[in-house]
Amino acid sequence: MALEIHPYGRVGAEIAGVDLARLDSADLAQIRAAFAEHGVVFFRDQTIDEEAQIAFARALGPININRFFAAHPHYPEIALVIKEPHQTANIGGGWHTDHSYDAEPALGSVLVARELPASGGGATAFASMYAAYDALPDDLRAQIEGAKAVHSARHVFGSATNAYEANRETRKDGRIGNASAADVLEDVVHPVVITHPLSGKRALYVNPGFTIGIVGLEQEESQALLHALYAHALDPRFQEVFHWQPGSVALWDNRATWHYAHNDYHGERREMHRITIEGEALN
Ligand code: SIN
Repeated sequence: MALEIHPYGRVGAEIAGVDLARLDSADLAQIRAAFAEHGVVFFRDQTIDEEAQIAFARALGPININRFFAAHPHYPEIALVIKEPHQTANIGGGWHTDHSYDAEPALGSVLVARELPASGGGATAFASMYAAYDALPDDLRAQIEGAKAVHSARHVFGSATNAYEANRETRKDGRIGNASAADVLEDVVHPVVITHPLSGKRALYVNPGFTIGIVGLEQEESQALLHALYAHALDPRFQEVFHWQPGSVALWDNRATWHYAHNDYHGERREMHRITIEGEALN
């Protein structure tokens, strides 16, 4: 049966008429095609337990177990994205794309809402890097022609005292760990513009979370170019905000989108379960 696919307009599409706990190969083919086309797909009103979430992720590719997030106590494949009422920092509260610090960055992530703030806070924003690339002004496009960028996890998950400020609390309370693994992780290089492995479309592939420089440029010039690219990519014309409800599930493509978890629900609890799916080298 054909699934109903409702594009949001700027990035992403909502898919209706499917039960993620009971997928057949025709459903999966349509989900894969919508994912490649829209960068992120959303599902509502799902009843998906941990085992069904793992099965859904595995149907899309091998699972990549995150090295830095606290894992689910019974399902190591599931990374916990939790903020307790007494905590102030959230996980993912800055624009980024998951795992760009890996030589073969994760294809995508499946996020399931387990407990949501009653206030309605804790939405997740997405930005399309297909749209950002397509709308690049000529001068910026010329500057990144053939360029490569360096990506790192050390400044985010490592133990350096100047490590990403937002992670100080999450490291202290154990939501983020394994800093010594981040400290020794080699930085990696990816093209600034990639050809998406599934859609064949061009996408901008640098992000404010993990990209630390442009190969061959001095630090100042490199940061100036990255900031110009970020200022462009963050144009609201390329963004949508997804408001979670019980039963909501998102599957985003880390090669075609950025995301940002809103931290506007202090004093309330939010628990999300994330599984990251293995990707491939990018060209
Ligand atoms: C993440 O950045 O992976 C988490 C996103 C969210 O919690 O909304």
